[in-house]
Amino acid sequence: HRILVIHGPNLNMLGRREPGIYGSQTLAGIDTDLAAAARTLDIEVTCRQSNAEGEIVGWIQEALDAFDGIVLNAGAYTHTSIAIHDAIRACGKPVIEVHLSNTAARESFRHVSHVSPVALGVIMGLGPLGYRLALQALAAHLDRGSS
Ligand code: DQA
Repeated sequence: HRILVIHGPNLNMLGRREPGIYGSQTLAGIDTDLAAAARTLDIEVTCRQSNAEGEIVGWIQEALDAFDGIVLNAGAYTHTSIAIHDAIRACGKPVIEVHLSNTAARESFRHVSHVSPVALGVIMGLGPLGYRLALQALAAHLDRGSS
């Protein structure tokens, strides 16, 4: 299976960004761990990060032909972007929504997610482990579909 991992806005700052909330691991560190996890799961993983909503929309569209599923942390666009919601619907591929922090336990403006209604599942509050769990869950989901 080919899985696309998309990290949204400000996630390039991980390690230096509010470490009390987001932890000390860098994005490069997370992506290295995901590459290792992919090898044990026998899947292909591609990790990308963008601060631009339109670029993320383009990558989700691209997944229609190029990937079997998406792990998406859309950052703050989670709470605002109908365009990302629509792109997920248009693409039709399974999406697992990930957040490092537990957004339900934070400010009320983080309580709405436009990704959740079109996601296969949501993992949040578990830090970088959430990405690995999402990869594992998506691989298991895709295995079920193809067997
Ligand atoms: C986040 C939570 C969002 O509310 C926030 O805007 C982020 C990161 C998380 O991973 O916890 O940028 O998606």
